[in-house]
Amino acid sequence: MTKTVYIKTVGCQMNVLDSEMVIADLKRHGYRVVETPAEADLLLYNTCSIREQAEEKTYSALGKLRDTKARHPDKKIGVLGCMAQKDQEVIFRRAPFVDMVVGPGQLHALPQLITNIDSGEGRQMAVSLSRTDGKQAVVARSHETFDPLRDPSQRPTPFQAYLRIQIGCDKFCTYCVVPNTRGPEQGRSPAEILAEARTLADQGCREITLLGQTVNSYRHRSDDGDTDLAALLEQLHEIDGIQRLKFVTNYPKDMTERLLTTVRDLPKCSPYLHVPAQSGSDEVLKRMKRGYTIAQYMEMFERIESILPEAAVSSDFIVGFCGETDEDFQKSVKLIERCRFKNSFIFQYSVRGGTKAAERLEDDVPREVKAARNNELLAVQDRISKEDNEKLIGSTVEVLVEGPSKKADTSDPDAAVVQMTGRTHCDRIVVFDGNRRQAGQMLDIHVDQVSSHTLIGRVRTVELVSIGL
Ligand code: 5AD
Ligand code: SF4
Repeated sequence: MTKTVYIKTVGCQMNVLDSEMVIADLKRHGYRVVETPAEADLLLYNTCSIREQAEEKTYSALGKLRDTKARHPDKKIGVLGCMAQKDQEVIFRRAPFVDMVVGPGQLHALPQLITNIDSGEGRQMAVSLSRTDGKQAVVARSHETFDPLRDPSQRPTPFQAYLRIQIGCDKFCTYCVVPNTRGPEQGRSPAEILAEARTLADQGCREITLLGQTVNSYRHRSDDGDTDLAALLEQLHEIDGIQRLKFVTNYPKDMTERLLTTVRDLPKCSPYLHVPAQSGSDEVLKRMKRGYTIAQYMEMFERIESILPEAAVSSDFIVGFCGETDEDFQKSVKLIERCRFKNSFIFQYSVRGGTKAAERLEDDVPREVKAARNNELLAVQDRISKEDNEKLIGSTVEVLVEGPSKKADTSDPDAAVVQMTGRTHCDRIVVFDGNRRQAGQMLDIHVDQVSSHTLIGRVRTVELVSIGL
């Protein structure tokens, strides 16, 4: 009899990709995916540790399973991902009915852990070494990925896929838990990446987004020489069927002229760059240990503007970091106004155990001040996004159609007209009235209206008159 698995994924694109791999692996072991915990023999939670709120949500979701497990002791519950690596046995203490705790570098072990439980070995934990447990290379080896397993049914859409080129992070920004949970930075080999990209193209994927915590720091050293992201993009560009290449997330200091000119010269590379600034204040950046000043960030930004004038740049900001004054915060406002990012993700600082900031700096900005700064920065960014989107009214944008939009009425599968959504090369979201068959196509959309996050348009029909029909 086939077993059933339910998976709930929270957090970043890495987690979405990890869940795809886990499901591909479990399917090979005879599992079928179901949509609700009630139907499932195996319940998996792929978790995020980036902020406390994400963790608390997961603990509260787990809490709700206490009764389920009491009523159905045969159901197995697994906690995967960054929280598993960070909290380890704390998870068993807070949620004793959990059967498995599996860190992001140990996901390949899942089928074996299930077998162990079935053979009566009790609850199982598989986590990678901590950064201080041994030499860098030994710790790195304990953070593995099993990327070649792909499952198109688990992707955001059949036409778009993530491809991990780098695991881990060595930047150690003082607020961030990722270097601990995902281990040392390692570039995957170009041969593996290219083989995987070809598989994705064969599966009908048109757009690949390369993933890495600091994707533009990607480097792979071998006897044949070094490969950087620019060289990798050149090789990926050759693959037939792939029409768009994106990469996230970038580290400002590694945004080289060589990478930018490569993006400019390769038409499949999207002129979309997510380069988090995190703060507009040099003092805050220093305490965050980001490794650049605002003058250096601006130098990088101007390099983007001069090489890729059409590029859309987006950013992340943390508000209320330790010691952030009103004056510091106003510098973040000023930076958004100077750079006019396409969009910014704004987060309130959350203390993370095991980080340098947690050990050495005081979380001294009151909660209400963080919330107020968050709202203020969002309002500034939204105004700018809207103003810049308004400049696109009346223009035509090329859109890779993803499928029905969130607001689409999908109750009638035969409906002739459905609100569809897609993205431009610059990663702008576009909605328009269309039909389901358009999913996966590249369409020219005429922009009629905009909001700060979305362009609203219509499919440009062929001008029958002008071609004499
Ligand atoms: N608190 C708040 N935001 C954080 N981020 C990372 N760590 C923290 C933290 N401790 C944000 C950064 C990063 C994004 C993925 O999450 O802005 O770029
Ligand atoms: Fe975290 Fe900094 Fe690494 Fe990004 S670069 S994952 S913010 S430590």
